[in-house]
Amino acid sequence: MEITAATGTLAAIDADWLIVAHTTVNAEALDGSLAELDEALGGTLSRLAATGDLTGKLASTHLLADVPALAAGRLLLVGVGDAASVTLRRLEKALVTATRRASRTAAVSAAIAVTGLGTDAAATAAMALQVGCVGQGLYHSEPTRHAFTAGSVLSDAEDAAGAISRGSVLGDAINLTRELVNRGAMEVYPETFADRAQQVATEWGLECDVLDENRLKDERMGSLLAVAQGSTRPARVVVLRHNGGGEGAPALAIAGKGVTFDSGGLSLKSNEGMKTMKCDMTGAATMLGAMTAIARLNLPVNVIGLAGLVENMPDGNSFKLGDVLTARNGKTIEVLNTDAEGRLVLADVLAYAVDLGAERLIDLATLTGACVVALGEELTGTFTNCQEWGDAVLAAAEDTGELAWPMPMHDLFGDLLKSDVADIKNVGPRWGGAVTAAKFLEHFVSDTPWVHLDIAGPSFASGNKAHREGGGTGCMVRTLVAAAENLA
Ligand code: BES
Ligand code: MN
Ligand code: ZN
Repeated sequence: MEITAATGTLAAIDADWLIVAHTTVNAEALDGSLAELDEALGGTLSRLAATGDLTGKLASTHLLADVPALAAGRLLLVGVGDAASVTLRRLEKALVTATRRASRTAAVSAAIAVTGLGTDAAATAAMALQVGCVGQGLYHSEPTRHAFTAGSVLSDAEDAAGAISRGSVLGDAINLTRELVNRGAMEVYPETFADRAQQVATEWGLECDVLDENRLKDERMGSLLAVAQGSTRPARVVVLRHNGGGEGAPALAIAGKGVTFDSGGLSLKSNEGMKTMKCDMTGAATMLGAMTAIARLNLPVNVIGLAGLVENMPDGNSFKLGDVLTARNGKTIEVLNTDAEGRLVLADVLAYAVDLGAERLIDLATLTGACVVALGEELTGTFTNCQEWGDAVLAAAEDTGELAWPMPMHDLFGDLLKSDVADIKNVGPRWGGAVTAAKFLEHFVSDTPWVHLDIAGPSFASGNKAHREGGGTGCMVRTLVAAAENLA
């Protein structure tokens, strides 16, 4: 859906839903959009404010249907809280609540007015129009959520048009990531993921190279290939390139864990533990979403996107406990748990990214349950071998309103991966599991500045909430785009 800039008065906006964002209401004196609407509605809003029905509290909504004074079919007022405490996160919460609400009925158009709320609000409104009307109910025979037929944003901010198109691009990118996560592993497996990447690359002008099994053998990706061994679905590695920085300029590589289904392999997961494991390719899907946005925004940087795509299954051909694998960089790995597979996939992909000449690395992975224990379901854990690059990625997250938190990387955690038979083993003890996983990955990045993002918590939401659909969340797409942009 293309999102346009709306103009004119609120009363004249012609959409099925007119969503008007406003700060905390002062019942004595309505201002801004509320004052304008109140006049058009003959004092209705003043009365609602006086009775306490209209407060402007964060993400509170008030619906007025069938309002003859307005060109729009329905008016949905949504609060963003106190003007002084408006943040990107709060705007997103309020505006997605509104767009989710409006998208329950089919074939409707929506406009959002964010007058007086600044440029960020214009971008967030465009993103909310894209994201809020798409849900995880992809397989409902009667859809419960409906894409808007048209969307527009009314803003008085400077460069509103630029912000709207940027927000719209980011919303699209987030939706691509969400869709790939939300589709089941019967549809999304290494080959089909690679096909989709190829198609998206053609659409947005990215270079795309798909490495098949033979090529992966030639490239000595013995660690990644071992994980794929138990599946009937052959492995793939996707390499995308955005060459916005010109020849010779340093490249950022973004590598995503793309385990299209994680059964645990022979170290089989419980039913409970396996239920959501279609989500284990979120790192790769986040990379893909971000690459489309980086291309569409034409960022003046060189970015390489890599996806390590495998399915982790138990079978007569599965890799086994006690197996010793040789990764692309020559390091040998003793396998003691086939459910610690993500790190085995990323080991080869990261080493490959280094060999492609990447000067900075970011990887994303639904890597450990331990990271969810440590930080909960809303925060991404960040791990780095380079304080400056780690701080830069944290700053990018902060700028986009995404939540991330730095984790320790002391050598003592790395010591826990010593093996008697190989260079390292693929699991440490239970405690500190998110950090030992990161220390494992560090073996494959050489001296390249690298940040690992463990997104096991925030990338998949267990249930629907008023302000956020369950399933894939598309977290960290915006952070990746901002991190790439800040390198320019
Ligand atoms: N994909 C899982 C991690 C995960 C858990 C992602 C929950 C999302 C939600 C990963 O491959 C895994 O199985 N990790 C193990 C590591 C252990 C065997 C050292 C874990 O977290 O239990
Ligand atoms: Mn696993
Ligand atoms: Zn996994």
